[in-house]
Amino acid sequence: EARASAPTPPMGWNSWNKFACSVSEQTIRAAADALVRTGMRDAGYRYVVIDDCWQGPRDENGVITADARSFPSGIKALADYVHGRGLKFGIYSDAGALTCAGRPGSQGHEFQDAQTYARWGVDYLKYDWCSTGTRNGEEAYQLMARALRASGRPILFSMCEWGTNKPWLWTPFAGQMWRTTGDISDVWEAHDKGRLGVINIADRNEGLWRYAGPGHWNDPDMLEVGNGGLSDDEARAHMALWAIMAAPLIAGNDLDAMTPAVHAILTNKAVIAVDQDALGVQGHRIAQDGDLEIWAKPLTGGRQAVLLLNRGAAPATMTLHWDVLGWEPGRRAAVRDLWADRALPGASRGVTLSVPAHGAQMLAISPA
Ligand code: GLA
Repeated sequence: EARASAPTPPMGWNSWNKFACSVSEQTIRAAADALVRTGMRDAGYRYVVIDDCWQGPRDENGVITADARSFPSGIKALADYVHGRGLKFGIYSDAGALTCAGRPGSQGHEFQDAQTYARWGVDYLKYDWCSTGTRNGEEAYQLMARALRASGRPILFSMCEWGTNKPWLWTPFAGQMWRTTGDISDVWEAHDKGRLGVINIADRNEGLWRYAGPGHWNDPDMLEVGNGGLSDDEARAHMALWAIMAAPLIAGNDLDAMTPAVHAILTNKAVIAVDQDALGVQGHRIAQDGDLEIWAKPLTGGRQAVLLLNRGAAPATMTLHWDVLGWEPGRRAAVRDLWADRALPGASRGVTLSVPAHGAQMLAISPA
């Protein structure tokens, strides 16, 4: 039996948010090259994942094939290419008869598909929940988890049933990460029903913080940083929220067209270190005053990451008082501003900062 492990939240890139069904082997090879060239691989983004639309029909033995027009060299060759760049390779399927884009799903072919993926060198499977009819969610995901373990290759299992069946309550956990919401939209906040912006997703994912931990993570969906719908301040807040929530960091932008600001947001070492902290605790909201919120995440060594979030449309001045963290006033602490990458003057009661509209400051606080 092979088991994948995810002691810290998985990091990588996925084709869906930017390319949707317009994906080809060139798209994936270019993404792998760009992860290396831009330093994102070395910042931790390891998985290159093809989302929906890579599939062709099943052959006469029921074996899934790749779409011959967009993936003419086949998936094995593509996995080899990705591995050759020091990266890991991920793919997508669905627990129903058809994927969300109408390609063949894995229902009734679970063990056969897991074998095929292992033969191709797949390291990661995102498993969706379209056209599943009355299928039992836990049964469907545990079945594929078993098939992956039986494949002989450790394949990380990313469960994408949008929180419908509360996978955070399943024992044992079927996969290493599970989506907690519907699909993210490339906007700060959606007010129309059915769409979820960054803030809407964060609100839903936050309440599930107790269920996350090493090896099993809440997944508030992939990053929209760099896709054009967010200001740089909003994108920084998006990244900071995902890091404080110990979310999988799966970039979803065109890596060949990053502005310097987008590149800096995605590769900020200190922010990534908050996400990847070995304690593996999901941070959550600890104080709220109208549009102004404080979120905190305990880190190894008694440190804390703190997010000062301004959801409002006007800039604000925010103060973090030590008592919000459960610390007595007068306690000495070293405070670091993670976006500005600088130490803030020593404080004994707390720290005051200006926070842009739709923005967030992120701090690391080490008690002296
Ligand atoms: C669902 C998933 C998305 C994406 C698409 C692909 O909507 O939630 O993340 O994988 O399907 O069709």
